[in-house]
Amino acid sequence: MPYVDLHCHILPGLDDGARSLADAVHFARLLDREDVLDVATTSHIKRAHFPDIDIFELDGRREELQEAIRAEGLKVTLHPGGELAHEDALALHDRELQLIAQGPKHAQWLLLECPFRGLDDEFDAAVERLTALGYGLLLAHPERIYDGDLSRLAPHTEAGALLQVNVSSLLGAHGPDAQRIAARLVQTGRVYCLASDTHPGTREEILPFGADALRRLGVSDVQAFRLTQSNPRFLLREGNPRLALPETEDRTNSTR
Ligand SMILES: [Fe+2]
Repeated sequence: MPYVDLHCHILPGLDDGARSLADAVHFARLLDREDVLDVATTSHIKRAHFPDIDIFELDGRREELQEAIRAEGLKVTLHPGGELAHEDALALHDRELQLIAQGPKHAQWLLLECPFRGLDDEFDAAVERLTALGYGLLLAHPERIYDGDLSRLAPHTEAGALLQVNVSSLLGAHGPDAQRIAARLVQTGRVYCLASDTHPGTREEILPFGADALRRLGVSDVQAFRLTQSNPRFLLREGNPRLALPETEDRTNSTR
């Protein structure tokens, strides 16, 4: 089964990811070779750092890159997405959130970045707002929070938010603390999936490297398969597990 990467900065010229269309296609060649065939295009949605990104242009940008990838005969399929900063999660209109949501309509979810500076009331408020709007959440790289204090995540994970750890963290690219926390999260069964969070040209630790890192940690083959293949595929196809349930009267009657 091919890998599914739910966090990748492959769209060119938007954030700190791929710089040019040629760089993005070059990176897609590596993905194709290593069997990473479904990739969410998760540019930073973080106006404080990347004020020029227009969410309404993302579909067109993705289609342009997809066309270039196809023209090279590569099998990589790009999917919508965005790495949402919590400040922006509080400010964006639902119409904009829709454009970066992943998963099928009835079980959509958003990739919400854990802020490096630590979890705070504003982050809690962002989770609350997105949940109230009906989105599931995949929380990106909690292991990179600078003080390693994940205690404020507990209420969110208990309410159904899922954790995504970076391959690069497991490989030590963000330092020994992030590496240790990433390993601990994996070994205590708190991680739903790995993702690459690759930035083509600068950070290229793709998912198969993560599968190898998991095995070095003593993770079973079955669990490595879940974390890098079947769980991300479930999120992509079926959506947030909490929401991807058979329709009940309650859910049928609920509105967003
Ligand atoms: Fe990212």
